[in-house]
Amino acid sequence: MGKPYVFVTREIPSKGLEMIREYYEVEVWTEYTPPPYEVLLEKARQADALVTLLTDKVDCNLLQQAEKLRIVSQYAVGFDNIDVECATRLGIYVTNTPGVLTEAVADFTWGLILAITRRIVEADKFVRTGEWHRTGTGWHPLMMLGTEVHGKTLGILGMGRIGRAVARRAKGFGMRIIYYDVYRLPREMEEELGAQYVDLETLFRESDILSIHTPLTPQTRHLVNEERLRLMKKSAVLINTARGAVVDTEALVRALREGWIAGAALDVFEQEPLPPDHPLTKLDNVVLAPHLASGTWETRTAMAELVARNLIAFYKGEVPPTLVNKEVVEKRRPGFG
Ligand code: GLV
Ligand code: GLV
Repeated sequence: MGKPYVFVTREIPSKGLEMIREYYEVEVWTEYTPPPYEVLLEKARQADALVTLLTDKVDCNLLQQAEKLRIVSQYAVGFDNIDVECATRLGIYVTNTPGVLTEAVADFTWGLILAITRRIVEADKFVRTGEWHRTGTGWHPLMMLGTEVHGKTLGILGMGRIGRAVARRAKGFGMRIIYYDVYRLPREMEEELGAQYVDLETLFRESDILSIHTPLTPQTRHLVNEERLRLMKKSAVLINTARGAVVDTEALVRALREGWIAGAALDVFEQEPLPPDHPLTKLDNVVLAPHLASGTWETRTAMAELVARNLIAFYKGEVPPTLVNKEVVEKRRPGFG
């Protein structure tokens, strides 16, 4: 038997690809943009395995036509682009990359928190464009003031690994930490983090900084809507490094324009890439990033290795380390041959 064939929808760090090549015949889509749906469908029809990104739509139509497909190894922690229920029904394994990107995402979240509260991006423009020089003063007591994070309340929406890593850092900044999640943490963990469980309404009302760390599901889609944004303090800022569609973007734009909240720092959007004429790009009280939170060499390499480890475990007939749809194991034994 030849090696099973895996289609990889984008170039990933080479270490992972080398690991996969030992067991699989690898084809990589080398263009910078995602393969069009029709191409992905055609490749999936021939593939034993797929390595996908959050920009690849792996819907039930595609899964049904992929008759040889046994495993989809997603290069991301989020997998809202994949119809997991359908995959499970068809006996197709779905894996993701949790854990390895937690610290990088938490660091970036903190970068955004400080960027928006201390106006770091604005400040850079101020110097670069000569605006500072034009003021004629080196230092002024009222120049470009921000707000402090120390002593403020950080609200965390979604207290999974990433939410907890953000909370751990907040402790160092001397903040009060409140959180909401459908699952409450065990008491000892709450105590260790210094985090207090509150209901959703309290979270929105009391947070000075509200940071989103939920996956995108039908339950979390537009969870941050007009009604909830209106509960927030006028001085509060919203941070999103999770998924754009957890926020109703139209409502957020109004909130930022009309001053229901003070600002937002966003790494993710309902539409990616964000078009340059999008209303968000016209607002001064916003910091924008191109879905970059896990973007370090260390983390992106670790993600590639985990993608490979999942594929290799499957090949060897073992249960992949970070299998999403655990129920699939009863339907179909892993492995090839
Ligand atoms: C990136 O957004 C991921 O889900 O890993
Ligand atoms: C992701 O790793 C999460 O559980 O937050």
